[in-house]
Amino acid sequence: MNLIKTPEEIKILRAGGRILAATLKQVAAAVKPGVTTLELNALAEKLLRGAGAEPSFLNYSTHGSSPYPATLCTSVDSEVVHGIPKSSVILKTGQIIGLDLGCCYQGLFTDSAITVPVGKIDDPAVKLIQVARDSLVEAIKRVKAGATLGDIGFAVQSYIEKNGFSVVRDLVGHGVGYAVHEEPAVPNFGKAGAGMKLKSGMVIAIEPMVNIGDWQVKVLDDNWTVATMDGSLSAHFEHTVVVTDDGCEVLTQ
Ligand code: MF3
Ligand code: CO
Repeated sequence: MNLIKTPEEIKILRAGGRILAATLKQVAAAVKPGVTTLELNALAEKLLRGAGAEPSFLNYSTHGSSPYPATLCTSVDSEVVHGIPKSSVILKTGQIIGLDLGCCYQGLFTDSAITVPVGKIDDPAVKLIQVARDSLVEAIKRVKAGATLGDIGFAVQSYIEKNGFSVVRDLVGHGVGYAVHEEPAVPNFGKAGAGMKLKSGMVIAIEPMVNIGDWQVKVLDDNWTVATMDGSLSAHFEHTVVVTDDGCEVLTQ
């Protein structure tokens, strides 16, 4: 499988990534107590389509799962990823919510996620969000042609564990561009120097998932929502980046 995108494809990914980032920013701005996760989903879908992009998670299915029924993933508190938006989920002060969005623009896919507070949140939740966001920054700093997937995983894991939190193992980042998910898997744990070497033009989604408690997770009865086993809070950040000779370019900001 060819994982190297052409300069023309990267131009399109850059345009799609900008639309995705602007949409996610506006959805994040709409997060407040009293808003339902279904309203956030409707806003994300309207904005993406209005900008000429298609939601890429809607009806997506992976290894025989039922099609994902929404544009946006909304994961509240102990939900890690893939929470399904609902009219019955009304946000309350003190919660945190992960917003994960993917789009297809002119045939090419980008993927990004952020975690934001609902109203005022307590100090452990503030720290969790900061550490999760900064672990992605640490990962992005390591990306360049010749660095390995293990360098990324090691950077994420060591940063998170140094800060007293744990990193989810069951879900990983991924190649992206021609599809929602493609090769290679991009783990958030590992050994520096191990694994595949990155090459200029590869496009990957890096997405640390960080728990306050243990790293173990479970899938809820809806067959999509992933939540922490111990009920502790979890935060998720994701960017799509293109590898360059001397670093990387973040496409979703
Ligand atoms: N960013 C999420 C991931 O890479 C997107 C999930 S796609 C969905 O796992 F359709 F399952 F929501
Ligand atoms: Co992803």
